[in-house]
Amino acid sequence: MTELNEFLASESNAAIASIFKAIEQASFIVSKEVSYQGLGADILGAQGSENSTGDQQQKLDVFADHVFERALRNCGSVAGWASEEADEFVAFEGCENAEYVIAIDPLDGSSNIDVNVSIGTIFGIYKRLSPTGTTVQLQDFLQPGRNQVAAGYVLYSVSTQMVLSTGNGLHIFTLEPYKKQFHRVADHVKVPADGKCYSINEVNFDDFAPALKDFVQYCRDKKQENGKRKYTGRYIGSLCADFHRNLIKGGIYIYPATGEAPNGKLRLVYEGNPMTYLMAQAGGYGTDGVQDILEIVPTQLHQKCPLYIGSPVMMNEAMKQA
Ligand code: AHG
Ligand code: MN
Ligand code: MN
Repeated sequence: MTELNEFLASESNAAIASIFKAIEQASFIVSKEVSYQGLGADILGAQGSENSTGDQQQKLDVFADHVFERALRNCGSVAGWASEEADEFVAFEGCENAEYVIAIDPLDGSSNIDVNVSIGTIFGIYKRLSPTGTTVQLQDFLQPGRNQVAAGYVLYSVSTQMVLSTGNGLHIFTLEPYKKQFHRVADHVKVPADGKCYSINEVNFDDFAPALKDFVQYCRDKKQENGKRKYTGRYIGSLCADFHRNLIKGGIYIYPATGEAPNGKLRLVYEGNPMTYLMAQAGGYGTDGVQDILEIVPTQLHQKCPLYIGSPVMMNEAMKQA
């Protein structure tokens, strides 16, 4: 099996490889603490503070943010980063000559941390727009998702896996915890054209736009030739986990505009963009309900966007209704 560094040596340049090496190291630390649920570092429960989008920060949100920031600062190939857990982007002093910047959700699925349900880390890597040798600027982080040069997520679950692309297909790696290395277990993965699962929080059904109500009703009603239901609902509350199941088995994940979240809940720069880049590499696609997520030019670091993402057949049906 191809070890992550071997894969990157053939699929990317030394700087990108060093970024993924840093992410591998940080993922191992977070994975270990998550697996010690309550026995190791003090990572359970609320931190007692809010992040920039008003979410109650969990201790693991802050722990993961620190672990990934330390690893990415030290790798020397990242000039700065934009994290869900920080109001502003952070320039990495001493890394002004680095060519890349990162947008990251250090811990996705925070509501699932204390109940031992799968959670993740999501990241997108961009080539900076500002000249190397200078301090990074906001514009470096407000690039459309199509500019990503690589992206990935780490899923802390029964096993810890990293799903990534450097632009040549989507690949899945599993963490071998004793060697602290990720080894590839699937390459050039394609999302099934159709699926069985639709993932949406139906508590918000009454707020959904008519077209979305029609799509959810379509999923509820659709029958197979044998008369059995074609679709079923699955919603974990961790984007990484719902995305991963839909990637492997086929399906669609939707976080739409709701009454409480008129622009949706997910953030474009460090959730919508990386996940849509990955889904596109796997043959699916993602939209905000109208346009390709990867074409949206962000205007704010933490701007939210509705997210429809998954298998093309289910996406086409959802978008047809739109
Ligand atoms: P985060 O923990 O980084 O804030 O992301 C949580 C997101 C996403 O992972 C999940 O699908 C969604 O929030 C769940 O939101 P609801 O509980 O409102 O359905
Ligand atoms: Mn998240
Ligand atoms: Mn998060």
